[in-house]
Amino acid sequence: MDWGMKNRLSRMIKPSTGRSVMLAADHGYFMGPTRKLENPRKMLEPLLPFADTVAVTRGILRTSIDPEWDTPILLRVSGGTSILKDDLSDEEITTSMTDAVRLNVSAVALSIFVGTNHEKQSLVNLSRLVNEGEEFGMPVMAITAVGKELKKRDAKYLALSCRLAAEIGAHIVKTYYCDNFRKVVDGSPVPLVVAGGPKLDTELDVLNLVYNALQEGAIGVDMGRNIWQNDYPVAMIKAIRAIVHEKATVKEAMQVYTDNKGRATEQVAIHRS
Ligand code: R5P
Repeated sequence: MDWGMKNRLSRMIKPSTGRSVMLAADHGYFMGPTRKLENPRKMLEPLLPFADTVAVTRGILRTSIDPEWDTPILLRVSGGTSILKDDLSDEEITTSMTDAVRLNVSAVALSIFVGTNHEKQSLVNLSRLVNEGEEFGMPVMAITAVGKELKKRDAKYLALSCRLAAEIGAHIVKTYYCDNFRKVVDGSPVPLVVAGGPKLDTELDVLNLVYNALQEGAIGVDMGRNIWQNDYPVAMIKAIRAIVHEKATVKEAMQVYTDNKGRATEQVAIHRS
């Protein structure tokens, strides 16, 4: 792997632990002003100091994140559908590699839709992006998207999707945690991070998901709604960081969450000043 590629990856995946807490905030590219992310700047600013990477589109990056921030950027570069469509798989590459380089991002990300009508299109999109990424030293993340078919999130399907992504050359893959997640990890020669999916019922559910995913071989999370739709997003991301980087148990991480709930307002004030 070339120096530039390695350097970009090591900004996102912390060399001290080999792990990463990525904050996903790219939902608006097909969901519009999702609950609690209506104003991206307001939601993101207090969280950025605790994210190893933030995933956004170029529109949100240019309008809602000041260039002075040091948080590495994972740029979503696929799109073309909206939540109004039943089939969300008809995506194209929406952002050029030149613009990604101009924005000084640390990686680009696109969704693949294995088993859908647009399987080939999304896989060819991935291959094009990897070809360009190799040329520019830009890591590519493939996202094993399931659209509205959340039930597809089983080990057999996700192992297939992750492996296809790795074979085409993705440098990292974002997928979902599932029963028998180890099978997904074992079939992937590149690192995996897990998304959170729609908001879970309790904080304990989220922390269990993160803990189990890490125990079974994920190198981190790329998580959105279960952080910023929580009533105490800063406390939540700090609890997740404890699991990912400090090997905290779920109980210890829950304590981090509880301890930080009270300090949430103060933290927002500090990071805005
Ligand atoms: C979909 O919009 C994106 O790929 C998200 O980044 C991904 O689903 C992770 O976000 P969440 O944890 O909210 O599922």
